[in-house]
Amino acid sequence: MTDKIVLGIESSCDETGVGIVRLAGDGSMELLADEVASSVDQHARFGGVVPEVASRAHLEAMVPTMSRALTASGIALSDVDAIAVTCGPGLAGALLVGVAAAKAYAAALDVPLYGVNHLAGHVAADTLQHGPLPAECLALLVSGGHTQLLRIEDLAGKITEIGSTIDDAAGEAYDKVARIIGLPYPGGPPIDRAAADGDPKAISFPRGLTGPRDAKFDFSFSGLKTAVARWVEARERDGDAISVPDVCASFQEAVVDVLTAKAVRAATEFGIGTLVVSGGVAANSRLKALAAQRCADAGVELRVPRPRLCTDNGAMIAALGAHLVAAGVRPSAMDLPTDPGLPV
Ligand code: KG4
Ligand code: ZN
Repeated sequence: MTDKIVLGIESSCDETGVGIVRLAGDGSMELLADEVASSVDQHARFGGVVPEVASRAHLEAMVPTMSRALTASGIALSDVDAIAVTCGPGLAGALLVGVAAAKAYAAALDVPLYGVNHLAGHVAADTLQHGPLPAECLALLVSGGHTQLLRIEDLAGKITEIGSTIDDAAGEAYDKVARIIGLPYPGGPPIDRAAADGDPKAISFPRGLTGPRDAKFDFSFSGLKTAVARWVEARERDGDAISVPDVCASFQEAVVDVLTAKAVRAATEFGIGTLVVSGGVAANSRLKALAAQRCADAGVELRVPRPRLCTDNGAMIAALGAHLVAAGVRPSAMDLPTDPGLPV
């Protein structure tokens, strides 16, 4: 096979991403461009992503982001061999913008179109930094929209969900707790920073779904968020000052303790030797440190892509598209639908 240029488009949430990957004849991949335009600032005052605002922002950003990616890669549009696009899961209106753009480019260039799963894309992102995945691996996806444990036997199709959140996503819990204690949106980075000066044992917050009768690999963060709110309210009622660093460190410890314990236990129980952690929350310093420690203790290899590849981007979609091209998977039809609730 000669080299193929695969272009990936991402628009499932608040990031408009266009990535370009060169797939070599031996199956190796080179990242040529990774351009992202984010509408996060437009959502900040609402404390969360507003779907209609996100869709409009994608419409405005799509063509400029595409132009920037082509310029950065030095690739002409006419050199593109395949287009991959996130078709779900995600926000309905946001997904439509990316899929409509991908169809237009694929039709105009007369190249195959691959509708891909956003969650599988997050895992594929790691292959751009650490190379091909082993025959079997476990993925912990933690972002503002998802918290899932996936067993990956083949990125081109054999992915099984073995656990997920039953309520809030881990990043959503960070964003809601930040709001409660007066930190800006998105809440992950400021909580991560404040926690560095706090005591993780200062407050004993609940660890969701860790009782003996609870589903083994599912997660729950809504009770934790409520516990933080009640704790802060009680101190405010009594006129007591709260230590923001202690609240952040104790909350963060409750989140990452459960995430890492369940991921490592799943790897051990399924006999899987590699854990990939991805999604925006994978940028968290304490999550990385505790995962590294627990993986080392259990003899599990840990792979965490750099933060830029963890958050939503087009490069991960191009990487997954390249994987499908290399595997000889049939392209999608040109009437490819979007599916906001697409399972893995
Ligand atoms: O993957 P992402 O960019 O978008 C999706 O939600 O798909 O993830 C964004 C989420 C936000 O909830 C943000 O608060 C969280 O990732 N986040 C973090 C950190 N950086 C971003 N959470 C904890 N610690 C961080 N350092
Ligand atoms: Zn995502």
